[in-house]
Amino acid sequence: MGRGQAPGKVILVGEHFVVHGAPAIALPLLGRGIEVVVERVSGPWDVLPGTEAHLRRLLIALEEDAEALRLSVRSELPIGAGLGGSAALAVALVKALDDSGALTTAEVRECAHRLEKLAHGTPSGIDDTVAAYGRPVWFQRESRSEVLEVEPCRVWVGLTAQRTSTREAVAHVRGLSEARPRWFGERLAEATVQVEHALQALRDADWSTLGRVMAAHHGLLQSLEVSTAALDTLVQSALDAGAFGAKLTGGGLGGAAIAICPPEIDLTDVWLSAGATEVIAP
Ligand code: PMV
Repeated sequence: MGRGQAPGKVILVGEHFVVHGAPAIALPLLGRGIEVVVERVSGPWDVLPGTEAHLRRLLIALEEDAEALRLSVRSELPIGAGLGGSAALAVALVKALDDSGALTTAEVRECAHRLEKLAHGTPSGIDDTVAAYGRPVWFQRESRSEVLEVEPCRVWVGLTAQRTSTREAVAHVRGLSEARPRWFGERLAEATVQVEHALQALRDADWSTLGRVMAAHHGLLQSLEVSTAALDTLVQSALDAGAFGAKLTGGGLGGAAIAICPPEIDLTDVWLSAGATEVIAP
């Protein structure tokens, strides 16, 4: 029997721009993840509703015989919420199938990245990197990602009712980048500078600077038309309640918002009254 676990993630800054070459920073959502158990016998599967066909595709890509395996999957992660559910599933599956524990973390990540391509088409790789390492990461496509040694950053997560489609959101942004390359290039440059500032603030545990960068980054994501009224309401209500900063996280067009706050602020009621369907406290 093989067992694999992987956490979800939140993107602190840099989503979407990371697909186009900018750096991004993501944090694992520890305590919220996916566990896959694999037994090498045929038998009924106990998996999340609606995920069986996807799991079969992943197994084919891994050259495994789905009929000869019994799979069970447990998830504490809302799916389609922009919290890295599909990457966590891919990493947990790869780990569960690695009976002898022979794969290095880099190899697990590599394999999961291949699976993420089946789920998203052109994933940047940030989700599978955080899920595989389970640590905060600085990530840039075509460059080495770096596991960050930083103080824990207490992130609030508020879910909106609308599920997100990363594939759709990424395609929308690609359309903008092709239709208005100069305009998009300027935003990409701005995003890159914001990620550099966020990295410094994270290293310094300077939460108020980090919060300001997050709020500015939300503005950039709004200009890419991936925010929604529900996400904007969560962001604004967190800022009004005294958060250091807030923004949408992940693909957008639904999904979740994140915020960082002074320790005395509790966003649970603020966000539930602002329309959040679930609030994950740090
Ligand atoms: O929506 P999520 O959790 O899959 O995050 C996607 C992040 C994007 O930058 C929008 C896409 C990517 O592949 O990096």
